[in-house]
Amino acid sequence: MKVHILLGPPGCGKGTTAKQLVGEFTLTHLSTGDILRDAVSKGTEIGLRAKAIMAAGKLVDDDTVNGLVFARLQGETHDVLFDGYPRTLQQAQALGTFLSSQAIETGLVVDIEVPENVLEARVVGRRVCSNNDCGAIYHLQNKPPKVENICDKCGSPLKHRADDSSEAFKSRMAEFNATFQPMVDFYRGGKHYRLVDGNNTPDKVFVTVSKLFKENA
Ligand code: AP5
Repeated sequence: MKVHILLGPPGCGKGTTAKQLVGEFTLTHLSTGDILRDAVSKGTEIGLRAKAIMAAGKLVDDDTVNGLVFARLQGETHDVLFDGYPRTLQQAQALGTFLSSQAIETGLVVDIEVPENVLEARVVGRRVCSNNDCGAIYHLQNKPPKVENICDKCGSPLKHRADDSSEAFKSRMAEFNATFQPMVDFYRGGKHYRLVDGNNTPDKVFVTVSKLFKENA
């Protein structure tokens, strides 16, 4: 079993690319954003704590997120694809220690780079399927659903994420800019790290990333 990682700023296409990869390779997709949003919607203890933090575009504390991730990794048999984790140097170091302790290999660390001026429109225009089991991702301009506000895949209504306002986006970018560099430096220069241009169509990004996965199977 291996653990692969998709890194990059809010709206760079981690979720979109992860869903395409899962359609082509045998991977378990673990999005810490999705796990936390599920906890919020279920009103669990972690969800109650995370709700306001996430809506404000801040990061949930490292120990909480590490605990959620390590619990999900226990007993996993397929290769895992992380989307949105790790996000801080502390998370990257804790993940490294956990993987070594479990003799789990690190696979690819794919950093999806998109200029900051492109990201806000992607995030503000995003709509997502309200059915958590589906979670399909749309965009009002780049990828509209066939029927307005209805998921093409499962017919559920679409919703606008609570943190997809311009205001929350600015806060998410500020968090990203404060935490990303030390975290990515942990991987950059290592044999697993690949930088990918995400300022391309989703299909072109997917072709590039899926080629990396084929080469590293
Ligand atoms: P999370 O859900 O991880 O949000 P994020 O990292 O900010 O990433 P996004 O989901 O916004 O974007 P994405 O890169 O997946 O882009 P997508 O494919 O959807 O985290 C949310 C919150 O949870 C955090 O703020 C934090 O509070 C908490 N959290 C999560 N993980 C945490 C952690 N590890 N530690 C602490 N806290 C954590 O695409 C975006 C839009 O663009 C879509 O509309 C899509 O259709 C469109 N699009 C995608 N690709 C392209 C393309 N190539 N061209 C044009 N449009 C595109």
